[in-house]
Amino acid sequence: MRRALVAGNWKMNGSTDFISELMAELVAGIQTSDVDVLVCPPAVYLSQVKSLSSSLISVGAQNVSENSEGAFTGEISLSMLNDLGCNYVILGHSERRSLYAESDAVVADKFIATVTAGLMPILCVGETLEEREEGKTLEVVGRQLKAVIDVAGIEAFASAVIAYEPIWAIGTGKTATPDQAQDVHAAIRAMIAEHDAKTASAIRILYGGSVNASNAAELFANDDVDGGLVGGASLKANDFIAICHAA
Ligand code: G3P
Repeated sequence: MRRALVAGNWKMNGSTDFISELMAELVAGIQTSDVDVLVCPPAVYLSQVKSLSSSLISVGAQNVSENSEGAFTGEISLSMLNDLGCNYVILGHSERRSLYAESDAVVADKFIATVTAGLMPILCVGETLEEREEGKTLEVVGRQLKAVIDVAGIEAFASAVIAYEPIWAIGTGKTATPDQAQDVHAAIRAMIAEHDAKTASAIRILYGGSVNASNAAELFANDDVDGGLVGGASLKANDFIAICHAA
């Protein structure tokens, strides 16, 4: 039985005041430990969020460097995240792939570095609208997954999470249907199973892309959807709490 995970990706949003309020509401509203709850603020606020969080809300980063330390201006290392008590890192988000040219190879290096440092990567995969319309969804997702499996080895996935985020559903209000999500999640699990059946049945596969308080329950009801990676709705305390309760 997989334990659900609901992760909030705050992206480049927030301020100290906004975060103080949001965290107070989240800590008050999340009082049970039926699901794992995670928030991923911008890096400059990780320390603040960690200090305001409760034992029921984990804190993670939105990105990390594959390098350990030194002359990498603007980057953040895994030892820094460990130092702050973070336990997850989102990797390969489509915004990083498309806006910052993160290749499959770079994502794979970050994935290995993250697992080696003892943090849990949330590996994002997903297709564009054009790719879906051309029937290439599984080809794209399979390529993104294979790039990491080939370099990191399937054993690294024992301490990882996968997030399926169709790019056409991110921030658009156009959510994948529960069936569309289930089909791709089942296919991802089958791709993992080709390498190792035990890892495939244990790994959590989150859905991301316009998850909100109204559609979360039906998405999470699918057998292979183990929670969500939530963008916009994670900035609204009531919505995010409702999504956690739906998982
Ligand atoms: O990582 C979460 C994300 O990309 C989905 O964003 O705003 O569509 O929930 P949103």
